[in-house]
Amino acid sequence: MITSTGRRIDPEDPVWMLNQYRAAEVHGAGAIMRMARLADTAKLRSDLSRHLRDEAVHAWLWTKAIEELGGEVVDVPQPYQARLSAHFGIPKTLTDMLALTLASEKRGLAEYELHVGQDDLPQAIRRPMKAIIRDEAWHVSYIEEALQERAREDKRIDEIIARAEQADVLAVAELEAEAATAGG
Ligand SMILES: [Fe+2]
Ligand SMILES: [Fe+2]
Repeated sequence: MITSTGRRIDPEDPVWMLNQYRAAEVHGAGAIMRMARLADTAKLRSDLSRHLRDEAVHAWLWTKAIEELGGEVVDVPQPYQARLSAHFGIPKTLTDMLALTLASEKRGLAEYELHVGQDDLPQAIRRPMKAIIRDEAWHVSYIEEALQERAREDKRIDEIIARAEQADVLAVAELEAEAATAGG
């Protein structure tokens, strides 16, 4: 959904987009679960537990919305996530994972904020989206704080965050270029 073709939800056929959202949330839950194994403070373990709960709830909210709208839940590939990882490289440390998660949480929040402002958005979508946006804003802020905390001990953190942000920019540029040549 992270391309110019995905900038708008078709109010007559919103199910495609909801399946993109749902798949991204499921993918996010998996990534948080893997990262939680490496958590090295009680605070981070606690925050990651709440984060995992949120992403699973989000996946369920979109599942319910798809069903309410008479649609079918389908699994969809996650091209943004795949490209983000490809540009960043295999995350080797907890800091790498936090930086990568920060980039993708920011991107996800920006997408939801773009869509929630759409005038003709059905209530069955706007309602859960508003609740999800509140959670996503917390995800961005606690991960930023966790990284700042780690930056006191590790001077390389700003560089790792910059590398994750660069991977995000490259991933989105590739998706946009592909969508353009596909005529979308
Ligand atoms: Fe989420
Ligand atoms: Fe999130």
